[in-house]
Amino acid sequence: MKLKTEIYQAIAAVDYHKLQAEFQAQNELLVLENFLPNSILDRFLSLLPSLQPAINRNYIPNHKKGGSISRYSLDSVAPIFGEFYHLSTFFEFLNEITAEKLLPCPDTDPHTYALYYYTEPGDHIQYHYDTSYYHGKRYTVLLGLVDTSSSKLEYQLYRDIPNRETQMRSLSLTPGTLVLFNGDKLYHRVTPLGENEQRIVLTLEYVTDIRMGMLKRFVSNMKDAIAYFGFRQVFRPWGK
Ligand SMILES: [Fe+2]
Repeated sequence: MKLKTEIYQAIAAVDYHKLQAEFQAQNELLVLENFLPNSILDRFLSLLPSLQPAINRNYIPNHKKGGSISRYSLDSVAPIFGEFYHLSTFFEFLNEITAEKLLPCPDTDPHTYALYYYTEPGDHIQYHYDTSYYHGKRYTVLLGLVDTSSSKLEYQLYRDIPNRETQMRSLSLTPGTLVLFNGDKLYHRVTPLGENEQRIVLTLEYVTDIRMGMLKRFVSNMKDAIAYFGFRQVFRPWGK
């Protein structure tokens, strides 16, 4: 079956009014368990062995430890992730929930779609916002692919709203779970991985304005090179 048909079937069952209300009530955050159809999940999982050599490991003391694969590596080894990212049906779904007209990130953004690997004890990322370096908003989608871990996505809801009490929440990113949030609003972290555990996540990034100032592009590229994908992936001399 075609990817488009499979995702259409998953989305056709969605109650938009309920999800839009949840998204707004949680300050632009939505969690949907079992969102991804097993057929798509299985296709993604079947590609993981071939992606193993493309994992770039990073360690930044007190901030982050883990592996990542950029969109460029995914494009060359497993183009289905890029195909999924660009599905018009999925865009329409996200547009409904966010009440925005979302755009794909430019080709120069290595974070457009990427895989995060938590595979060694202690792999984690400290509390942060997925700050938008673009002129407009940045929305993050997380899709759980593998989770045999005790790691949690922990977040502080309403932290950016003055005079509103912050609420601590946490969840496991079980296979098929979708999390959608406004990167400038959700303060979040991933707690450290235990022994013999594994957690692999597909992350997708959508924006409302693809423009980015030169200084912000530089800061964004440096962050991606150091914390995620390595300099060879981010500052690619051969271009795309
Ligand atoms: Fe994040």
